[in-house]
Parts: sequence; structure tokens; C-alpha cells
Amino acid sequence: MTLTSILSKLTLGAAILLLADSPSNFAQESHVDHLTGSSGSGKQLYRRYCVGCHGPQGDGNGENAQWIDPKPRDFTAATFKCRSTPTGTLPTDEDLDHAIQRGFVTTNMPSWNPLTPQQRADLVAYIKTFSARWASEKAGALIHVPPETAVTIQSVLHGRELFQKMECWKCHGPAGHGDGPSASTLTYSKDNPIRPYNFSTGSRFKCGETNGDLYRIFMTGVDGTPMPSFADVIQPNDAWDLVHFLRTLQALSTAESALWKKYAIEHAAEIKPIGPNAGGGR
Ligand code: HEC
Ligand code: HEC
Repeated sequence: MTLTSILSKLTLGAAILLLADSPSNFAQESHVDHLTGSSGSGKQLYRRYCVGCHGPQGDGNGENAQWIDPKPRDFTAATFKCRSTPTGTLPTDEDLDHAIQRGFVTTNMPSWNPLTPQQRADLVAYIKTFSARWASEKAGALIHVPPETAVTIQSVLHGRELFQKMECWKCHGPAGHGDGPSASTLTYSKDNPIRPYNFSTGSRFKCGETNGDLYRIFMTGVDGTPMPSFADVIQPNDAWDLVHFLRTLQALSTAESALWKKYAIEHAAEIKPIGPNAGGGR
């Protein structure tokens, strides 16, 4: 047998495998902590738990999708909201695992915490079969999150200036209620409006709940939505100041909100409002 004939046999074999395994074109693995997930096992789990929303082809067109808003993720686009990697890049396997485990607050995406870590790792591998990007690209380089700086009133006030200067308020509103002047114009795909996050509604975000998660959200952006990445315009320590200010917008008793309340009473006359006509901050 010549090398060419071996190669052509191999190609034919690969083509048959591809057809047999449709719609997933590439077997994939995932690596989450010490576990290796396999798309073969993930497929069974996907068919059982995920297909009704995300669809047999992974394109987000499951039979329940018509009733759901925001729509289930289309895995064929390989665009993900919750990443520890820069905007436009693929997330890590851990990012996908965390999203599946956590679920998405304020949406129909449930938390899949009851599944075992191995099952979730298998599902991550299977999700990666829906887009050819996973065969040719690696996850983006991790966004570095430096150690958190001290929570001080200076930090909160500087964060407030950034919230004004970076125009977060245009979408999120001066008080963070998701009602800024641009809010009603935002969509995440043709015909599908999206509301900026309302900070006063709870303690959890789609992409986590800790200060570190908050840092990552605005440094990575929420891909597939108008929420941009600020990694190129906000310096790491400034980013912690912004995190500290965002905590004062929530209806929670945090160290940040305690500092801010005290300052707001003592310095009421000096505080400029946030919005179109304001300098922000002091
Ligand atoms: C009841 C419907 C529903 C089911 C069932 C469901 N999902 Fe989802 N899923 C959604 C919706 C809706 C979103 C989009 C949420 C958003 O965009 O804010 C989503 C988003 C996702 C994302 C995107 C993560 C990111 O960072 O963008 C992943 C991954 C995911 N689902 C995995 C799964 C897996 C795995 C299963 C099965 C174990 C599953 N989903 C079952 C509705 C569902
Ligand atoms: C162009 C409009 C726009 C601007 C400007 C904007 N955001 Fe957003 N933001 C959004 C939208 C829309 C969402 C909702 C995304 C979703 O639900 O999937 C969002 C979501 C968020 C979330 C929650 C994400 C999650 O995981 O649930 C945080 C935190 C956030 N934005 C912070 C900021 C900060 C800080 C700034 C300024 C530095 C900012 N945003 C600027 C539109 C914007």
C-alpha cells in the first residue's frame, strides 16, 4: 500500500466519522481542575438536559427558545458572556464550567450545580464541538486581576469619578438602576432589546458575585451585548476603585456603602450629581 492510498483511506475514514457524529464535527476534550471531560459523554447529557433550550444543533433554537428572553446561547457562534479572557477571545474551560454551575440570574438558564463536576466537564467538551473555532483557536490569555486595594473613601470617590468619566451612567443610569439615557436603545441582536444591569436589584451578576468577578466583568466586557470591555482604558488599580464604587450602588450593607453613606451625609453640599451635566465625584 502506498502512502497516498493510506492517506486517502484515512481521509475517507475521517469523513465517515464526521458524518456519524453530526452535528458535532470535532471530538473535543475539556480540562477543568484535575478532570478531563469528553464530548462523547457530554453529548448524552446535553441531549437530556440542554437540548430543549440550546437545540440539537447547539444554535440556541431548542423547542422552548421561542418563549425565552434573553434567548439561549447559540454555541455555533462561540461568543460567550462570562470569560476571564479578553473581549473577542474564547473563554477557558473553567469559565464555561463556572457558567454552567452558576446559571444566569434573571434568565431561564438554570444552575446545574446538581450535576457532578465530571458531568459538567463532559458538557463543556461537547459545547466546544458546535463551533470550528475550538478546533483552531485557544482560549484568550487570562486577564490579570492584581490583589485588591484597600477599601477607603478615596477609592470609592475615585471610582465614582470613573463611573462618570467612562460613561457607565449613560447605560446603567446615574444611580445604577439600568435606566440611563441610552438604555432603551440597546439590543443584543436584531429585534432583541437588552437592559443594562440594575445594581439595586440584588447581589449577584450573571458572571459571578465577588469583587474579583466584578473587576473581571468590566475588564472583559459582556461579549454579544452592548456592554463593552474597558481593559484598554482603565488601569488595574483604578479598576479596583470602580469596583468599590459599584458596591455602593447595591442595596447591601458593605464596607463600601457604609463609607459612602457617612461621606454623603457629611459632605452633601460638595457632591456633584452623576450624569450629563456633572463633573462626577467631588
Ligand atoms: C430553560 C432553558 C435552558 C436550559 C435547559 C439550559 N440553558 Fe444554558 N442558557 C439559557 C439561556 C437563556 C442562556 C443565555 C443567558 C444570557 O444570555 O443572559 C444560556 C446560556 C448558556 C451558556 C453561556 C455561558 C456564557 O458565558 O455566555 C452556556 C455555556 C450554557 N447555557 C450551557 C448550558 C448547558 C450545558 C445546559 C444543560 C446542562 C444548559 N445550558 C441548559 C437557557 C437554558
Ligand atoms: C453601551 C452601554 C453600556 C455601557 C457604556 C456600560 N454598560 Fe455595563 N452593561 C450593559 C448591558 C446591556 C449589560 C447587560 C448584559 C447582560 O445582561 O448580558 C451590562 C452589564 C453590566 C454588568 C453586569 C454583568 C453581569 O455579569 O451580570 C456590570 C457589572 C457592568 N455592566 C458594569 C459596567 C461599568 C462599570 C461600566 C463603565 C465602566 C459599564 N458597565 C458601561 C451596557 C453598558
